[in-house]
Amino acid sequence: MTQILSSAPIKKKIIKELKTECKFLIENGIHPYLKVILVGNNPASLVYTASKKKFCEKIGAKCDIITLGENADQKTFLEIITGINQDPNVHGCIIQLPLPAHLSHLDVGKLVSEEKDVDGFHPNNLYAVLSNQISTDHFVSCTPKGIITLLMEYNVEIANKRVAIIGRSMIVGKPLACLFTNHDATVTLCHSKTPNIREITKECDIIVSAVGIAHLIDQSFISNKKNQVVIDVGMNTDTNGQLCGDVDFEKVKDHVLAITPVPGGVGPMTIISLAQNLLQASKNRLSL
Ligand code: GUN
Repeated sequence: MTQILSSAPIKKKIIKELKTECKFLIENGIHPYLKVILVGNNPASLVYTASKKKFCEKIGAKCDIITLGENADQKTFLEIITGINQDPNVHGCIIQLPLPAHLSHLDVGKLVSEEKDVDGFHPNNLYAVLSNQISTDHFVSCTPKGIITLLMEYNVEIANKRVAIIGRSMIVGKPLACLFTNHDATVTLCHSKTPNIREITKECDIIVSAVGIAHLIDQSFISNKKNQVVIDVGMNTDTNGQLCGDVDFEKVKDHVLAITPVPGGVGPMTIISLAQNLLQASKNRLSL
């Protein structure tokens, strides 16, 4: 039987831990507080930011979504971030991506101060991942961190395994390749210009798809040995307007050892990682 790597049992367990940690911080004078900056009306971003706020509040943390119009000017946007960076009562800040075209030239990873960068996009946080020197002062990007947590919670071996990641984004593919490497896996980072991707994925123990194309991964990417683990990062809409992943779940599921569902797989793990990072950022204030 194929194992379905659902985030639900992990979520239940980690929420309990996070609630306890949040209560401890509040008792010690720190109320974890996340600010989310949302520019424009991207429908997916509206859903994601609402889920992030709901999760923060569930564990007892505070979360505000600062919503700016599609045409918000750069000066206002930057002033808001500066205000958040300087506010000692705010512990974490994320700028929801994508930004509208007129702001997309900004070096977004450098805007939120390193110690509040709970998205893990700041160069110093990325360097900690790159150099395998991750400490409590650093934050790991939420989706890559969530994928490693999910695999570890399900006791999926990473060390000495061959991993194919499809998608080379700064948010998922590249930092995830580093994390897997830090865990002693051997990684092939594939992308749209990679020739013969199927030859690579068929040879791997773990396949991660993070490309954002509905149902791209079908049986032709999978070996016939039924020994692979498939991680689906995709959050796409199919032709019926339904949420679906990069993987054609129905076509692939009976041919693999384990697979994440969409919804209920990687998505919630990303939010869990964000909350873990927020509480870490808040805890770091305790020692100041
Ligand atoms: N848009 C899609 N995923 C993410 C994420 O993890 N963080 C931010 N800030 N924006 C996103």
